[in-house]
Amino acid sequence: MNLISCVITTLLLTTLFTLSQSRKCNNTDHLLILKAFAPVSNFNSSWIHCSNSSISNINLSSRNLIGTPSWNFIKNITHLHTINLSNNSLKGYIPTWLWSIPTLTEVNLSHNKLGGAIGFEPGSGSGSGSGQSSIQILNLSSNRFTNLAHLSNFSNLYVLNMSHNNLKVLPYGLNSLNKLQTLDVSSCNISGNSKPLSDLTSLEHLDISNNHMTGTFPKDFPPLSNINFLNISFNNFTGSLPYDKAQRFGNSSFINAGMLFKFSNHSNNNNNSHTHTNNTYTPKQSKKPHDNIIPSRSNPKDPTPTKKDSSPSWKNRLLFKIIIICSVSILGLSAIVLIICYIRKKRKMARRNKWTISKPLNNNNIHQPFKVERSGPFSFETESGSSWVVDVREPSMAAVVLFEKPLMSFSFKDLMAATSEFGKESLLAEGRCGPVYRAVLPGEIHVAVKVLESCRGMSHEDAVCMFEELARIKHPNILPICGYCIAGKEKLVLYEFMANGDLHRWLQELPTGKTDVEDWSADTWEYPADSSSPEKMEWRTRHNIAVGIARGLAYLHHAQSAPIVHGHLVPSNILLSDYLDPRIADVGLSHNRVDSPTTDSDVYSFGVVLIGLLTGQTGSEETVARARKLVREGRGVDALDSRLRLGDNSVSLMVECLRVGYLCTAETPGKRPAMQQVLGMLKDIHPVSPELS
Ligand SMILES: *[C@@H]1O[C@H](CO)[C@@H](O)[C@H](O)[C@H]1NC(C)=O
Ligand SMILES: *[C@@H]1O[C@H](CO)[C@@H](O)[C@H](O)[C@H]1NC(C)=O
Ligand SMILES: *[C@@H]1O[C@H](CO)[C@@H](O)[C@H](O)[C@H]1NC(C)=O
Ligand SMILES: *[C@@H]1O[C@H](CO)[C@@H](O)[C@H](O)[C@H]1NC(C)=O
Ligand SMILES: *[C@@H]1O[C@H](CO)[C@@H](O)[C@H](O)[C@H]1NC(C)=O
Ligand SMILES: *[C@@H]1O[C@H](CO)[C@@H](O)[C@H](O)[C@H]1NC(C)=O
Ligand SMILES: *[C@@H]1O[C@H](CO)[C@@H](O)[C@H](O)[C@H]1NC(C)=O
Ligand SMILES: *[C@@H]1O[C@H](CO)[C@@H](O)[C@H](O)[C@H]1NC(C)=O
Repeated sequence: MNLISCVITTLLLTTLFTLSQSRKCNNTDHLLILKAFAPVSNFNSSWIHCSNSSISNINLSSRNLIGTPSWNFIKNITHLHTINLSNNSLKGYIPTWLWSIPTLTEVNLSHNKLGGAIGFEPGSGSGSGSGQSSIQILNLSSNRFTNLAHLSNFSNLYVLNMSHNNLKVLPYGLNSLNKLQTLDVSSCNISGNSKPLSDLTSLEHLDISNNHMTGTFPKDFPPLSNINFLNISFNNFTGSLPYDKAQRFGNSSFINAGMLFKFSNHSNNNNNSHTHTNNTYTPKQSKKPHDNIIPSRSNPKDPTPTKKDSSPSWKNRLLFKIIIICSVSILGLSAIVLIICYIRKKRKMARRNKWTISKPLNNNNIHQPFKVERSGPFSFETESGSSWVVDVREPSMAAVVLFEKPLMSFSFKDLMAATSEFGKESLLAEGRCGPVYRAVLPGEIHVAVKVLESCRGMSHEDAVCMFEELARIKHPNILPICGYCIAGKEKLVLYEFMANGDLHRWLQELPTGKTDVEDWSADTWEYPADSSSPEKMEWRTRHNIAVGIARGLAYLHHAQSAPIVHGHLVPSNILLSDYLDPRIADVGLSHNRVDSPTTDSDVYSFGVVLIGLLTGQTGSEETVARARKLVREGRGVDALDSRLRLGDNSVSLMVECLRVGYLCTAETPGKRPAMQQVLGMLKDIHPVSPELS
């Protein structure tokens, strides 16, 4: 009896145990996925089945998911091969490390609201040291991605679909994609030359329809012999469209493609009349069906004798005639070109006696869709209608000095080329110091270029001094200047580019991908991380940002022989690294200000930023006054950002932090603490993480 009851109880216990086991899945990957999608609404945890093996596919296509996943949890899934989250309403940006997960080969994020930049950080993935993304198939179609696609480390890609995004320029680094077979960048508002495409020698499917691209067909295109689908409709190309090409790809590949001259079929017309047409031309149906199918014929109009019944002497005469006509017209054209050149040269010589023909500095054309051939002065207009002028005759004479790369020689001309001649599509922001542009210099040097309008009156020597002084300021929380360029009166400073944008944007509730000019009211630099990013709701993240800023500012105030006053510490001047570490920008550029700022005013500004971080409202005077009042009344809790996840313990710590902001914003400057003390106080407040660890 005893034995039987014992057995029964054991059995019962084991079944109970396995039951509870099955309910609580003991697979770490499973847990990580649940955590990753916890902040996403409409996510149902029953979709993810518990299994013993590691999870290699995430397929949550068309599940009406809304929000931003906590991508960080996905980092620790070790055998992930594919991600398909297409057809949802996911928002936010994609962290760069995602692209370097060594096992990940297929990503489908089409039809979402994802935005921001697409970049790659070698080695930032979990342990991959190869420096190349493993991704082979990437579908980002119909999202809100902007013009920061950096694909040079995506050398394994063979399918890339970025259609229906607002890229504005072709993705960078296309020349590295030597395996790419399918490229779809249709409807991306892309302007610029199609030349970079010509490096894609493996391409079989190319859709660039519905953009504003320029270039010559087929010179600026990949070899057409391999291509079996082509659509260049609705662009602004020039060139000639041979009959066989029109036949092969079909007329609907060339609708409104620009000034394409179409050649009609030889065999019916022996004069090679070419008709300029966009729509009216309809090719005669080919009688030879293989014309449509055979993709690579080495020479379709081969004049060697064939089975055709034309007599050789007639053929020769025709050939002779064609050669004569061609030679005469070539001679005539050359003469005209020479005359024009001569006249132009004469005119320029008359205007000034020094005129140098400049050679392009490098032939890496991929980043230089715009060749700069004219000579100065150059005038550039910004979005707001203001303009700046570089009065140099020869833009290659104004050198770009790069501190870390002294052997690379760039000039203002390269900056012009890398920013589409400081075109509006490269304009990141118009701050109070001047416009800021994004540029990718040859060698994948990604920089932000700021035009220092306030330094126009400064002498060349003083400016060099200033830049060298600035380059000496090195701190993890200070945005390093990586170079400068003095072009005429204009002084340009080059910063390392921060793709995660600035704190102002980060805190603001802006929909992702909205890069409208109206939003660039302040010195905002880049595209917004989404407001619903879960990290943003972590008070620990905000504390970390506050401590970082305090550290940078304390370094400026106290670690130098003479304190460096920032003078314009606002959230839009605080940029965020990939890991959300703050970098203070605009250091050392506060001269020429009417109100001479002091370290005390910096402390005040820091207090405003801190209050902004805790209240979630980027610090207007009213926010500050309200927060100060509440702290004074002992009701600091009421000022806190309600979106912060409030753990039991953390509220008091946050109120403590708010009190630091209160001290910093004291009305009497003398009562404000020094940055070193502020840093000490903030470091003493240890945030506990709410749920994890
Ligand atoms: C989960 O599984 C591991 C082995 O895969 C095992 O060592 C561990 O004890 C299990 N945990 C629980 C709570 O069952
Ligand atoms: C999740 O899915 C299961 C089964 O598909 C369903 O029974 C359950 O109601 C769903 N939960 C929610 C919150 O929708
Ligand atoms: C991922 O794993 C690393 C160590 O392997 C750990 O330090 C980290 O906390 C994990 N991250 C998450 C989000 O679980
Ligand atoms: C991506 O998802 C879309 C929509 O669900 C689908 O049409 C497409 O075939 C998918 N592509 C890949 C490569 O999975
Ligand atoms: C990418 O997604 C779009 C839209 O969902 C779909 O039409 C297209 O076929 C997909 N392309 C590839 C290569 O998967
Ligand atoms: C292209 O640009 C126009 C105006 O700049 C904008 O309205 C449109 O939405 C953009 N297209 C895409 C696909 O983003
Ligand atoms: C095409 O280019 C020409 C000159 O470059 C310009 O005037 C015209 O507006 C462009 N057309 C389109 C549709 O972009
Ligand atoms: C090319 O794109 C245009 C515009 O989107 C479309 O009308 C046309 O049918 C496409 N042609 C082919 C061959 O797909």
